[in-house]
Amino acid sequence: MTSIGTAIGQVFTPVDAAKRIASEHGVLEAWLRGATVLDPTAGDGSFLEALIELALERGIARARLPVQRLYAVERDEALLASFASRMRARFSLRLPDANLRAHDLFTLQDPPQADVLMGNPPWVNYVDLPETERARLRPLFHSCGLIRDPRRLLLGGSRIDLAALVIAWSIRHLLRHGGKAVFLAPLSLYLNDGAHEGFRRHVVDGVRYALREVWDHRGAPIFPGVATRYGLVTYERDAAARWPVPWREFAEDRWITQQAAPCGGEDGPLVVHDLGANAPTAKVTVQSDPDRAAWRPRQGVNTCGATDLFVFDRCTAEGVMVVAENKVLGQVRLPRRYVLPLMTAETLRSGNRTPHRWILIPHDPVTGRPLERDAIDAMPDLALHLDAHAVRLRMRKGTMLGTHLRRGHWWALLGVGPYSYAPWRVAWEAFGRSTFRPALLDATDDGPWQGNQALHAYIPVRDRAQGERVLRALAPEVIEPQLRAHRMEGTCNWAQPGRIARILALTMPVRWTLPLARVRTAG
Ligand SMILES: C[S@@+](CC[C@H](N)C(=O)[O-])C[C@H]1O[C@@H](n2cnc3c(N)ncnc32)[C@H](O)[C@@H]1O
Repeated sequence: MTSIGTAIGQVFTPVDAAKRIASEHGVLEAWLRGATVLDPTAGDGSFLEALIELALERGIARARLPVQRLYAVERDEALLASFASRMRARFSLRLPDANLRAHDLFTLQDPPQADVLMGNPPWVNYVDLPETERARLRPLFHSCGLIRDPRRLLLGGSRIDLAALVIAWSIRHLLRHGGKAVFLAPLSLYLNDGAHEGFRRHVVDGVRYALREVWDHRGAPIFPGVATRYGLVTYERDAAARWPVPWREFAEDRWITQQAAPCGGEDGPLVVHDLGANAPTAKVTVQSDPDRAAWRPRQGVNTCGATDLFVFDRCTAEGVMVVAENKVLGQVRLPRRYVLPLMTAETLRSGNRTPHRWILIPHDPVTGRPLERDAIDAMPDLALHLDAHAVRLRMRKGTMLGTHLRRGHWWALLGVGPYSYAPWRVAWEAFGRSTFRPALLDATDDGPWQGNQALHAYIPVRDRAQGERVLRALAPEVIEPQLRAHRMEGTCNWAQPGRIARILALTMPVRWTLPLARVRTAG
């Protein structure tokens, strides 16, 4: 039986896939020529078994297999025991007991040192770990330099993956100087903006290591039914980065080589494009615009799970009030000033700018902060509506919402600031799309348009002229190829504000230091 603590991230690599990886990435050769190979989170030993099988298939005699140079670390003792007994049953082989370390990787005393690391670390989002594990690992994420914003990690708002910690830690503590590492890992480490910036600096305790290659397994799945985007990443310890790195994708029955380099600084997400081509760049006009500082892209308003209490499908003005309506609440009277039009796909895709949905935002339209209690009490209809749902509103969860709740502002929404009330905005669909079609929206008679959570993003602007400048800088023919290079088509991360901000900040092509030949690798 495995306890919850040990069962973390237990998805094992099929031995056939491990064999392909070991032979195609030179691990078998290295081992046979004298290298020590170690899997730092070995599970039931697929990668070591792969090496043994490959060597036997080559006709190397069992007695001559260098099993003394195979090491495994795994916190679940039963898995290592099962590996050892399988090796005895299948091949009459016994690995030295001292090489199979049934222990937690992060507290291992005297860790073995290897020339090559090969494995598949647990892929688990930090926020999805049990609280005891989070508390234990938090200081390690910090000491390995993986965290940019400690507050977000503490409050559970960071989407950082445990795989990042395992990779960085293993390279730092278990890999010899100049050693190589080969890991199956979630590609969020390199494609997502935000949480993995610290990891992408590739330095732990002053020890540098370099990303060498990425093999995107989207077209060549190893784990059927696993929705996470993953691939094989290779590293070299104590080596300097050389951008671009080869990025391989499996299409039409073969691996195609492209090139990848970080966007907007060494810790940025990777952008991928054809060999020999320069990275696509944003127009320089963005950099020289005098209002550039205000151009920060924003996400839509977030109700933190209480959409039915704030979002309405009909709205009829009655002087300074409106009668707003949705299926859950029926009709509610609310002060008109606080009920604003909410974008829909139709708002952005068609030229029809008549609002079809509305959102109640009980915030001050000047400061963007939640209204104070006395301001709400001065509007009895609003107070009646909010108070009727106070229990539910107080129970909402969300990292940033916590601050508002602690201050007693339990009616607060997220993603609201003075920018929410800018009269104009250039808005776009940010989620699940593969095209980028920004639109310039003027305020309606009901007020300025609001984005709906992560579905929409926008850049607030003062007037039409500024809006048209932003719109020109966000021309689809400029931005869309760059978004495609981020390999996020159809995902929730397609054109989110952080990604667009990075693209706009990119003034110059990344300077390539490794001219790659125009080659295609056969599959
Ligand atoms: C995704 S599985 C992969 C196992 C093996 N490398 C493979 O590919 O088949 C990850 C393994 O990491 C182990 N693990 C998780 N956290 C660990 C830790 N802190 N120390 C050692 N092993 C750990 C889990 O028990 C699990 O067996």
